[in-house]
Amino acid sequence: MKNILIIKGGGRPKGNTAQLTASFEKGATDAGHSVETISLLKNEVKGCLGCNACRYGKPCIQKDSFNELVPKIKNADLIVFASPLYFWTISSRIKAFIERFYCIAEEDNNPPLGRYEKYPVKDSALLMTAADNFFWTFEQAASYYQFAIVNYIGFHDKGMLLAGGCGDTNGKPQIDKTDHLQRAYEFGKNIYS
Ligand SMILES: Cc1cc2nc3c(=O)[nH]c(=O)nc-3n(C[C@H](O)[C@H](O)[C@H](O)COP(=O)(O)O)c2cc1C
Repeated sequence: MKNILIIKGGGRPKGNTAQLTASFEKGATDAGHSVETISLLKNEVKGCLGCNACRYGKPCIQKDSFNELVPKIKNADLIVFASPLYFWTISSRIKAFIERFYCIAEEDNNPPLGRYEKYPVKDSALLMTAADNFFWTFEQAASYYQFAIVNYIGFHDKGMLLAGGCGDTNGKPQIDKTDHLQRAYEFGKNIYS
């Protein structure tokens, strides 16, 4: 049994991303994992100020939800980043959340090449939805995830579910007309099997 923390970075409350996340959550719960989903719409996390007041081990000076999320982050085995595709990348809410990892970084006197600090070691996954479904639709988002979360922060990638063709936000969510929800359920169910 693993502790799974899903960070939902926006999207409509009953939209494609919310549905995709709920299916993943159901699969993971059915597999016996403990899953908590945090919506950054309800729990505001602002971008980092770069003030350095947090270094090292001190809380962030900003009065938003991030400091309350730190114990949940530290306690999680797997952190799932869930986001709609906005202007070809992750939402600004997810980006702001990642920036705040600055305050959970620890000093590392001998960091590996290309890294300056140590971060908690976690597994990670990416769930995304988009209107378009070209071969390059998720290229920027997947590349940022791979570079910042996996290569730099050092999380162990457990996979990405990139759900294109979900309809644009001018209309109703269309994800229920695709096979993405079933795929998300299976992804959650089998993530540690
Ligand atoms: C501000 C904004 C930017 C968007 N940018 C893109 C985009 O670059 N590419 C794309 O395919 N869809 C784009 N979309 C569509 C959404 O990614 C898509 O409809 C998504 O599934 C909406 O998620 P939701 O239903 O959870 O709100 C954008 C939507 C909004 C509101």
